Amino acid sequence: MSQAPAPVLKKSRASPFEAPRAVLFDAYGTLFDVYSVGLVAEQLFPGHGQALSVLWRDKQIEYTRLVTTSNHGAHYQPFWELTRAALVYAIKRVAATAEQTGASGQFDINFGPQIERLMNQYRHLSAFPENRQVLSELKARGIPTGILSNGDPAMLQLAVKSAGLSELLDHVISVDPIRKYKTHPEAYALGEQATGLSASLIAFVSCNAWDALAATWYGYQTLWVNRYHLPFEELGTQPTRTGSSLRDVLDFFPISTPN
Ligand code: LAC
Repeated sequence: MSQAPAPVLKKSRASPFEAPRAVLFDAYGTLFDVYSVGLVAEQLFPGHGQALSVLWRDKQIEYTRLVTTSNHGAHYQPFWELTRAALVYAIKRVAATAEQTGASGQFDINFGPQIERLMNQYRHLSAFPENRQVLSELKARGIPTGILSNGDPAMLQLAVKSAGLSELLDHVISVDPIRKYKTHPEAYALGEQATGLSASLIAFVSCNAWDALAATWYGYQTLWVNRYHLPFEELGTQPTRTGSSLRDVLDFFPISTPN
């Protein structure tokens, strides 16, 4: 669903001060609020909503890594399927009793409607409130924008449409065609292929510290949006910039004042 890939320009690293020429955003957790499902989870599983939504997210990401790194990708499943599998795991772990999950088929009978409700909520995640304005501002400054996400094309298309962001994004890039999830380098390479720019000339924005770290390692200029006041990963590399909202991406593009 992204535009036809443009040829990747020769890889020359930008000087540390060279402004990026495009911006790519992570989707889940960055443009779309994955924890917004917590409210529905709390309605369905009183007292467990927060724990369930956090475990659901963590398990989903763990599964992307499992299928990417094991057995040469033979166990790849699209992000939607991994998301459902992670939800089943989280319900079993956090909210279900042994009797509810024990007998074969029992789990589906007990939890089928809740799973459908939460998956449906995931399909229509809320977008963070500042997204529209930031994307419009980038457009006004002539900066191409896009999503580079683990999400499969159908999920991304629906999320972008529901959030009303379609006309503000030049690229919606899913890793699904290569069947490898971030943080595999081939996944990050898709951003270069779509924009025709070297990673060093692209700002990659993520709220997920692991994603911002791996994109920095890959060669992108990065903004880690630390919405939840968390520590960054302790692996020695820092993102190019750290901010607290998507608005901070505009700092990559200072408006020059005439003298
Ligand atoms: C994504 C997940 C990792 O959108 O947030 O790629």
